[in-house]
Amino acid sequence: MPHFKALSLSLPELPCTLSCKENEFSFLELYSSCVFKNYSLLHTTSKISNLKPKEFFLTLKQNDKNAKEFLVKCDKSSKIAPIEIAKNALMLLASNQKVITHNLNQQNITPQFKLPFIKEINDFLNFEELLQKEGLENKEIWLEIGFGSGRQLLFNAQNHKDILHIGIEIHLPSLEQVARQIGLLQLNNILILAYDARIFLELLPKCSLSKIFVHFPVPWDKKPHRRIFSNAFLTQCARVLKKEGNLHLRTDSYEYFLYSLDLAKEFKNFEISHQKNQQNSITSKYEARWNRLNKDIYDLYLLQKEPLNIATKHYDFSFPKITSSPLLTPSFKKQKFVKEDYFLSLEDLLINPKGDKKILKISFGDFAYPETRYIIIDENLKYFREPPLKTEANFKAHNLLCSLLKEC
Ligand SMILES: C[S@@+](CC[C@H](N)C(=O)[O-])C[C@H]1O[C@@H](n2cnc3c(N)ncnc32)[C@H](O)[C@@H]1O
Repeated sequence: MPHFKALSLSLPELPCTLSCKENEFSFLELYSSCVFKNYSLLHTTSKISNLKPKEFFLTLKQNDKNAKEFLVKCDKSSKIAPIEIAKNALMLLASNQKVITHNLNQQNITPQFKLPFIKEINDFLNFEELLQKEGLENKEIWLEIGFGSGRQLLFNAQNHKDILHIGIEIHLPSLEQVARQIGLLQLNNILILAYDARIFLELLPKCSLSKIFVHFPVPWDKKPHRRIFSNAFLTQCARVLKKEGNLHLRTDSYEYFLYSLDLAKEFKNFEISHQKNQQNSITSKYEARWNRLNKDIYDLYLLQKEPLNIATKHYDFSFPKITSSPLLTPSFKKQKFVKEDYFLSLEDLLINPKGDKKILKISFGDFAYPETRYIIIDENLKYFREPPLKTEANFKAHNLLCSLLKEC
């Protein structure tokens, strides 16, 4: 993370606007933590001629042992892309300090992938708009979950050119490797993203997909709650698959196959069929490994007879009017609330010098893919930048927070 360490820190009087290269930065307000000694957030915005203004925090930490020394960093939870913007903001601040060390001249080690077919989760928040922007509306869509080395995804994209192929993979190096191949093959019918597929499905509109492939998912025999297949996952598949759409599981784990079959039997909308040791048109890296060991391979097909009629949920992440709450005072303490399928952790409260503006830092949502967000508190409460992802777990956590704030 970009940072500099300085011997003493003298900030300009806030708010102030400073310029560097083609960036104009406004340093707005400093908020001091109620939890961590000598730790503050500096609310910063940047304006670049042809880009939308960006908002982020810089963190300031005074050394506990040597009170004169400060570490100034780009805050991880409000990080922006490209990171060079935050580096420029740090350079501006560093220019008036006695800097001891910094990494502001370092080039990013992982190249910034700005390839048009690599998408972010936020790009999918308005799916129809995304398809329209990409000129891909009215296309049939296939989704591959956990594409790994990408052999199946690339094969499908090369052999089914009129289909839009979406690939989702949580392992970033795999995604980057497949991105290179998509570029080399000049495929224009693929979108890929690095995210947890279980959460991604919740964001898709109903009846949007024709096929879903889950090939050789990690069996997680000792931690079944981490499996991709679950009742909640199949419910989402039943919602997003079109009539006559198909979910295809291919696995070398007999246990995973039986477990998925049992789950599927609970769904009346699926017509179930399965095969053993069926040849696939392409052999994935994992399949090749199991073939060498002569392992049996199981295919499970779930054909959508009638899409599940689950009403589309409209999650409202606004806050009620809260004039005061004992939760939001300088005596703030970290607290964690763990529920069956979500959690909420109140991480920190940061307060400006006048005491009329506060920032609440929370982590919340799904255990596998938690979000960390800031909530800006002045006369109203509002999520910093955009609201959380519209998932059930996030919404439950948001509601819990609202009731905690009201309760006190
Ligand atoms: C055993 S590999 C199989 C890869 C590929 N499908 C194949 O057949 O070679 C499982 C892949 O699923 C990915 N994965 C696991 N959980 C995931 C999730 N929740 N969302 C997206 N990808 C996931 C892993 O990172 C891994 O690349």
